[in-house]
Amino acid sequence: MKLAVLPGDGIGPEIVAQAVKVLEVLNKDGMKIEMEHAPIGGAGYDAARDPLPEATLKLARAADAVLLGAVGGPQYDTLDRPLRPERGLLRIRKELNLFANLRPALLYPELASASTLKPEVVAGLDIMIVRELTGDVYFGQPRGIEMRPGPDGRAERVGFNTMIYSESEIRRVAHVAFGIAMKRGKRLCSVEKANVLECSELWREVVLEVARDYPEVELSSMYVDNAAMQLVRNPKQFDVIVTGNIFGDILSDQASMLSGSIGMLPSASLDENNKGMYEPIHGSAPDIAGKDIANPLATILSVAMMYRYTFADAATADRIENAVKKVIAQGYRTADIYTEGCKKVSCNQMGDAVVAAM
Ligand code: NAD
Ligand code: IPM
Ligand code: MN
Repeated sequence: MKLAVLPGDGIGPEIVAQAVKVLEVLNKDGMKIEMEHAPIGGAGYDAARDPLPEATLKLARAADAVLLGAVGGPQYDTLDRPLRPERGLLRIRKELNLFANLRPALLYPELASASTLKPEVVAGLDIMIVRELTGDVYFGQPRGIEMRPGPDGRAERVGFNTMIYSESEIRRVAHVAFGIAMKRGKRLCSVEKANVLECSELWREVVLEVARDYPEVELSSMYVDNAAMQLVRNPKQFDVIVTGNIFGDILSDQASMLSGSIGMLPSASLDENNKGMYEPIHGSAPDIAGKDIANPLATILSVAMMYRYTFADAATADRIENAVKKVIAQGYRTADIYTEGCKKVSCNQMGDAVVAAM
């Protein structure tokens, strides 16, 4: 198996290095994973004036899976939009057709006190957010900033984007979400804004059509504003959530705090054949980059998802997840999940602890 390793920017290289340690241990015991590193995001721009250099895309295409850290940083925020790190990430998702983004929010019992919500609200939390990843306002045309006549007749700047989904795009991600619900609690909540947006109205209709193929799954629909409220009021009412690109982006960051920290949430981005890219849901965290204090567990847990979904090796996925459970039970905490009485560790020390627990 071939793995493209794309550390990216900010804390990306620090957290990916910990995941690579885990992969090296696994390489000693079982299936051999050949790793090759390449730049993406700001690192791609620095190396090749392109946030997704041709060679990186070629490597990712040829690989069985991709492991990504994070991209972005303030030094790149004034570049032309096509040159920005975020565009590199969006392009690789689109180029590899990674339309189904699985973002599980799970609370490890010992982290209940790290969440900002009351322990009884989050205890036992286990939600899967299925976020559509290659459509929506992220990719819709037309988009831009241009001059148009203002209220006083004088030209002014207007910014615009297009929220757009085709029924085939909705249908394929809905099938993924129903399939996942079938393997879990058989409850699916489709989140949109059908009271206001035509795009969401179509989303709701198509999800209802797909539901006919899954009579065992209990489907509900919820407006996104209510879903944001329900996620903090009573998050355990949810089993699987399926939603579009922008709503899923926002709701998954929100859900991450239920699990104690955004540094805990992994993700899998899959195409039709379960080829995938694996990355933590968080960003490059420029505020803590280079300090060896970032939480690498979301990235390590993304490696577990890689074994589960792309390599169909549930035993190895369990092995990684159990090692993470163990280090948390042992009291190891990076700064973001630290509470009194625990062992505060650096990013590197957390990686070493996971390796030791394996
Ligand atoms: P962020 O997720 O990078 O950081 C938000 C907050 O969470 C920060 O305070 C950060 O220190 C903290 N945090 C994030 N990951 C952490 C970890 N593993 N351990 C401990 N603390 C962690 O979001 P932001 O600040 O809005 O964005 C920063 C940059 O990252 C921007 O350039 C943005 O575009 C980019 N970004 C990239 C991705 C990605 O690559 N998938 C995702 C989100 C944001
Ligand atoms: C994420 C990030 C990206 C997104 C950005 C950096 C393009 O926030 O992976 O959640 O919005 O998808
Ligand atoms: Mn995001």
